[in-house]
Amino acid sequence: MCGIIGISSSKPVVNNIISSLKKLEYRGYDSAGIATFSDKFIDEVKCEGRVGKLEKIVSKKSLKGIVGIGHVRWATHGVPNEINAHPHSSDRVSVVHNGIIENSTILKKILEKKGYQFKSQTDTEVITILLTENLKNNKLLVAVQKTLEKLHGSYALAILCKDNPDLIVGARRGSPLAVGYGHNENYLGSDSYALKSMTNKISYLDDGDICILKKDSAEFYNSKGKKINKKILTMSETEDNYDKGDFKTFMQKEIFEQPNSVKSCINEYVDHLRDDINIYNFPWDITKIDSVVLIGCGTAYHACMVAKYWIEELTSLEVAIDIASEFRYKRNKFKNNCIYIFVSQSGETADTFAALELCKKNKMKTLSVVNVVESSIARNSNFVLPIHCGAEICVASTKAFLGQMLVLYVLILKISSLRGDIKKKDYEAKIKLLKKLPEAIRNTLSTESEMEEISDIFSEAKGSMFLGRGYSYPIAMEGALKLKELCYVHAEGYPAGEMKHGPLALIESGMPVVIIAPRDKYYEKTLSNMQEVIARGAKVLFISNKSKDEISSDNVWKKIEVEKTSDELLPFLLTIPLQLLAFYAAKNKGYDIDKPRNLAKSVTVE
Ligand code: M6R
Repeated sequence: MCGIIGISSSKPVVNNIISSLKKLEYRGYDSAGIATFSDKFIDEVKCEGRVGKLEKIVSKKSLKGIVGIGHVRWATHGVPNEINAHPHSSDRVSVVHNGIIENSTILKKILEKKGYQFKSQTDTEVITILLTENLKNNKLLVAVQKTLEKLHGSYALAILCKDNPDLIVGARRGSPLAVGYGHNENYLGSDSYALKSMTNKISYLDDGDICILKKDSAEFYNSKGKKINKKILTMSETEDNYDKGDFKTFMQKEIFEQPNSVKSCINEYVDHLRDDINIYNFPWDITKIDSVVLIGCGTAYHACMVAKYWIEELTSLEVAIDIASEFRYKRNKFKNNCIYIFVSQSGETADTFAALELCKKNKMKTLSVVNVVESSIARNSNFVLPIHCGAEICVASTKAFLGQMLVLYVLILKISSLRGDIKKKDYEAKIKLLKKLPEAIRNTLSTESEMEEISDIFSEAKGSMFLGRGYSYPIAMEGALKLKELCYVHAEGYPAGEMKHGPLALIESGMPVVIIAPRDKYYEKTLSNMQEVIARGAKVLFISNKSKDEISSDNVWKKIEVEKTSDELLPFLLTIPLQLLAFYAAKNKGYDIDKPRNLAKSVTVE
């Protein structure tokens, strides 16, 4: 996690560093810092807390440096405080870092024996001190290379060096780093987002690369120390929308954007004239594929879970799903006739990226479903399907979840039709219904006031459960995850039929339990499970879909009905009230909804 910015310019850089750090806050927001060169000295300002606080402190100083680096932190080693905030500086260098140095304890001991003292509890300070030591007998580039050779783990680095005040050194292994090209100034950023307002011309460092960045040049060296050239890519001009509009939080805005974000995505993939799905340049003959494996983390993993049910229902393919952090270390049986699908909003999630790299190493077919098309996961996959939902700023994923499910659904439908697993008439009927989805989502958003009313019970609860079967099971998991991450209340998402095998013991009088029971083939079964929790004192919030039949809801505390649609499309609608529930439960508590404690939007450490 953590965000990095570096600027080498002919004019003061502090304001641009601060605005880039604000954009990078989604990568970490527990502390922030900046260092610039001025008159042979490195000026450093750091603080615990947000970039806004750093900006206030900086405004009282006069940082006139024309070369500088900045950092937003998501703590790995050492509590979030001013001392542990980056940059970490010695009398010779100043370093900002994203990643984890796994052998920092050993290196620290070696350096302490040489007489060095450490100020912070971070792994990063080891890089600062080791580089300082190596600079005693080596020129900058060699000293950096010698330092990097000793590091185990992952890093993206931006380094200022007192003896070379016109440049910034960048280095990457395992954590992304981009170079941006401007007019008489150049940039380093932990992703292209941070650079977008300053340039649309960028290059990406590969693992092992080092770059020496000056205001008018960028030199690159690979892991063997050989000077290399980098492709300069042009980023799309579309400016991301960082404005909350009429909303007070990005989360609420993003929830209410869903009818439109889903519509834009449908417009990208669905042929309106022919009731067909267009996926151009699909690189493999789908009739020769036997299986798919879907991989993701958190909410993206829940989208994979829903997709598994669709694949089983609609195709003759074998399907497996995996959490990326598990997949990357287990013994996988790689199969040639399999497509490995990586689902990630940011496209930068370290575990998902590592799982992708593992598949690439084994020469597997890789496809990614991402929101950020310039991301590492997108750039390294054989084929990319973007979710087209626009920038998602709130740490809790909402519109990207619907976007991920949507792209997976259209992909599965198309595969099913190409393989002849589905009749043409059924395929077209499903597409017709899909086109109505944005309207159904819009109507389902009208549950907002009811969810607001209900939410205080969840805010105050010690714990809660979310139960569903079939498609509603991953949605229950997603609802529970949203409540945990936003409202800091224990919430468990569980298959409703599993309760009697243990978790039923948790139910006590007054405990809020969400039962997700649309009128699908599981309906009656889930109703029975609901009565089992009611009999043990649970306060049941029952979520189903509209129908002419009354819900048989004896002893149910509250009932919510989403719009009518097919069983397959219900996950999109059932998610909406759960997003609203978590939003209002967190709002009742006065929590920072867009930036929940301990988290970050882009999880770039494993
Ligand atoms: O960017 P990604 O989709 O790869 O992120 C994966 C998870 O970190 C993410 O979905 C996380 O679970 C969300 N904060 C949940 O709301």
